Amino acid sequence: MKNILVTGGAGFIGSNFINHILDERDDYNIINLDKLTYAGNLENLKSSEGNKNYHFVKGDITNHELVDYLFNQYNIKYVINFAAESHVDRSILGSEVFFQTNVIGTNVLLETSRRYDVEKFLQVSTDEVYGSLGETGLFTEKTSISPNSPYSSSKASADLLAMSFYETYGFPVLITRCSNNYGPLQFPEKLIPLMILNSLADKKLPVYGDGLNVRDWIYVIDHNKAIDLVFEKGRVGEVYNIGASQEMTNIEIIKLVLNILGKSEDLIEFVKDRPGHDRRYAIDSSKIQNELGWKPEYKFEEAIVKTVEWYKENKNWWERIISGAYQDYYKTQYGK
Ligand code: NAD
Ligand code: TYD
Repeated sequence: MKNILVTGGAGFIGSNFINHILDERDDYNIINLDKLTYAGNLENLKSSEGNKNYHFVKGDITNHELVDYLFNQYNIKYVINFAAESHVDRSILGSEVFFQTNVIGTNVLLETSRRYDVEKFLQVSTDEVYGSLGETGLFTEKTSISPNSPYSSSKASADLLAMSFYETYGFPVLITRCSNNYGPLQFPEKLIPLMILNSLADKKLPVYGDGLNVRDWIYVIDHNKAIDLVFEKGRVGEVYNIGASQEMTNIEIIKLVLNILGKSEDLIEFVKDRPGHDRRYAIDSSKIQNELGWKPEYKFEEAIVKTVEWYKENKNWWERIISGAYQDYYKTQYGK
């Protein structure tokens, strides 16, 4: 049995990870430490509640005393760090909490893990640390770190810190850098769920700039299977890129969502561009494919339809989320 501290497990990717992994395996005992920020939601974990190999603790990864207590209490030997402030637009509105959680929080986890002789520490990172690509080329693990947003610079800082623990102390760190995820349980501030919910409500779809920025999309379960594989078989001190080679412009995605829902393209509204907007992300995932035998299983055309269906069928889930504080954020970000 592996005692694994999973942080940020009530968010989009972390909750999909926990639900999926507890379904598949009985040799993982998961302690989920999550602060339940606006992005954390225990409803995401309904299918894991009651599982004897799952324990939830509400708390902040920057809280030294709590983190120390948990390592002791649960004899933690493994860490998978999903916890983060994750939205670029919010980081542009204010960067402080991004540095608190993503950098200071990661430092607390690394320091404590080292003291407790943790056997593996997997830092869940993002392709955004590499910055922006031109029309051609792909990010490889050797691409230099060149983040442009407060969000991506905080994630890059955490990556550098984690790697410094490997170099300095021989501490067993692994880093995964994944492209843009989509799927059930994603908070509706992100492109795909935001466009689905606005379309369902016949609200305008705010497209930043010319809509031709490119993202490389991956279904969340493919990402999580890759994380599990790197966690089990990856070489410590290494970075693994994760991506499904599914590049799309934003406008293509938005038109596709409208088409799936049978809505008119008149809902599209071009708005002011995001400051510092990265033009293109695209991942070369040949390292994880060749070394660990991973490959994406979900086809974009099918998984995007499945995702749209999930939001249509889970109105209760998102109605609660978009009431209250989210409306204030929406007004600040979109001016209406
Ligand atoms: P999310 O915003 O949906 O969830 C983040 C979770 O972390 C929430 O449950 C929140 O309550 C928790 N959290 C935030 N601050 C915390 C703190 N101080 N202490 C404890 N818990 C805290 O994010 P997500 O999309 O699920 O992303 C998870 C991870 O994957 C992040 O590290 C992100 O950088 C990375 N990532 C995301 C994507 C993507 O497309 N969403 C792509 C690549 C990498
Ligand atoms: P997002 O989901 O915020 O992910 P990231 O910025 O981390 O890649 O945005 C994906 C793309 O969609 C990005 O190019 C910005 C664009 N976008 C819009 O055009 N309008 C929106 O309302 C949002 C949220 C994003």
